[in-house]
Amino acid sequence: MKSNAGGDDAKRAAGERAAEFVADGDVVGLGTGSTAAHAIRRLGERVDEGLAVEGVATSHGARELAREAGVPLRSLGDTARVDVAVDGADQAAGGDLIKGGGAAHAREKIVDAMADRFVVVVDDTKLADALSRPVPVEVLPAARASVAAAVRDAGGEPTLRAAARKDGPVVTDNGNLVVDCDFGRIADPAALARTLAATPGAVEHGLFVGLADDVVVGTPDGAAAVESEK
Ligand code: A5P
Repeated sequence: MKSNAGGDDAKRAAGERAAEFVADGDVVGLGTGSTAAHAIRRLGERVDEGLAVEGVATSHGARELAREAGVPLRSLGDTARVDVAVDGADQAAGGDLIKGGGAAHAREKIVDAMADRFVVVVDDTKLADALSRPVPVEVLPAARASVAAAVRDAGGEPTLRAAARKDGPVVTDNGNLVVDCDFGRIADPAALARTLAATPGAVEHGLFVGLADDVVVGTPDGAAAVESEK
């Protein structure tokens, strides 16, 4: 499910540009994935140069990377707001997003939604006229069958996400499973988001509707353009 589309130069351009949105003294949401990783590394360089920030990681992977990069951390469980969050996406359409290709969307949504400013970083292959990629849904293990049935009732095709280098399914940082739900072209993301959010046993879905403040789009020539969504 993880998208490898888009070159690393484009991802780097977006991530490094987004790191410039962070100001001295900020609490910063640290997104997950290969594009957000460039922002975390650049933030580490800015910390070396004297910037004072505290990072809030959206995943085990983001936390490890922040430690390597020298970004000071505070715990998500003790945090109710951040100044800026920088996070990637699997697809972006008019500021609405599909996230969760790395199975981190539950914590990502907590952090991105509490941000005064949520800056999305994508390479230009992630842009679309309408959202159409499968929507990751994190589910309690005991709700795997019932959530799959609810997704079919809503017109989707659910697939339990398999682990890449382990037998069996992906298990999230929260100990849950991920079901990727293919709805085809999503005409009304807000309505689908409400349906998925109301499904018992669905912990969190990967539709991020109306949350993004800015989308930074990187291109392979190393340029990055900022699109304001609000
Ligand atoms: C993590 O679960 C995802 O939401 C990522 O933010 C998303 O998959 C983007 O990752 P890349 O930047 O690696 O494409």
